[in-house]
Amino acid sequence: MKPEDLERLSAESLARVSACADGSALAAVERDLLGKGGVVAGLLASIGGLEAADRRAVGEGANALKQTVLAAIAERETAFEAERLEMERGGDGFDPTLVGTREARGSLHPVTLVSRQLEDVFLSMGYRVLDGPEVELDHYNFVGLNIPSDHPARDMQDTFWCEPAPDGTDGADLLLRTHTSCVQVRALEVLEPPFRAIVPGRVFRQEATDATHEHTFHQMEGLVVGQGITVGHLIGTMRTFLREAFGREIEVRLRPGYFPFVEPGFELDAACPFCEEGADSCRVCKGSRWIELCPCGMVHPAVLEMAGIDTDVWNGFAFGLGVSRMAMLRYGIEDIRHLLGGDLRFLEQFS
Ligand code: FA5
Repeated sequence: MKPEDLERLSAESLARVSACADGSALAAVERDLLGKGGVVAGLLASIGGLEAADRRAVGEGANALKQTVLAAIAERETAFEAERLEMERGGDGFDPTLVGTREARGSLHPVTLVSRQLEDVFLSMGYRVLDGPEVELDHYNFVGLNIPSDHPARDMQDTFWCEPAPDGTDGADLLLRTHTSCVQVRALEVLEPPFRAIVPGRVFRQEATDATHEHTFHQMEGLVVGQGITVGHLIGTMRTFLREAFGREIEVRLRPGYFPFVEPGFELDAACPFCEEGADSCRVCKGSRWIELCPCGMVHPAVLEMAGIDTDVWNGFAFGLGVSRMAMLRYGIEDIRHLLGGDLRFLEQFS
């Protein structure tokens, strides 16, 4: 090595440093140039074999090369760090050290939450989940449920009837379903007994609203058809799903109830959680201490026979749970009208 070669060696070394694309390439070049057996070490080792006149110049040149390379490496490392920070910021000025803004997240409606929870309970008891149309035929909403056109029980549920189509051929029999019981008739038409089914869904009634009554609300129908089904099976099922849904035993009472499609029929009421015993000012239960929750009964033989099912072999039970009222009880909602009110301050409380 001649002193005049030192300049070329320095230029080559700097070019190698600046060609490094990342930290590991830089570390390799540093090893090559400054490490044991590297370029600088080679220069220093060669000094002994040089002419006396060149020794000093090559020695000083080797030290100068070492300092130059170290400075270039440090500069490159600083540049890599700056690039890394810029990458973290997404390259668009994003500063990860600033306080973040929380994204607004939607939440599930309390009725959806209760419906899903109830579906899980019934699925675990071997039920299947069925669906049916909200715009329904008179036949399924009434006639097939043992409520012919002149039956006074039609007045129990004020019905939204659809206008007939302009040509008069269609729609005269159409209504917004007043209960999910219409899917009982549809299920009996198509399913082979034995079976267990639930039908969660929205229903509509033309009625005055108050703290426990809406014109649009949710029910969940239950229908079990089998052999030797008894009222004991029905009560056991009611108890089980209420315990599972509330996570504790809740006080209920069973009293006789009339529905043309069950015999015997019952009303299952839940104790009102919104009032003290005896308080007659409670606007939820109106002082009765009980909230009507789930009418039920043994399927009337006439309903099974209309669907062509042999009542000498098969019988069953049915229930019609008020899911909107269940959501009120579950979450302590004191007015059913909050559910459809669309107020985000109310809805954001559920998830
Ligand atoms: C019925 O709708 C029957 N189809 C239930 C049934 C099914 C009986 C199977 C027997 C066998 P009812 O009209 O009582 O029954 O309504 C059932 C439940 O829906 C009520 O107990 C109540 O929890 C709820 N419900 C009734 N009307 C309203 C309303 N306007 N707003 C909110 N919930 C209501």
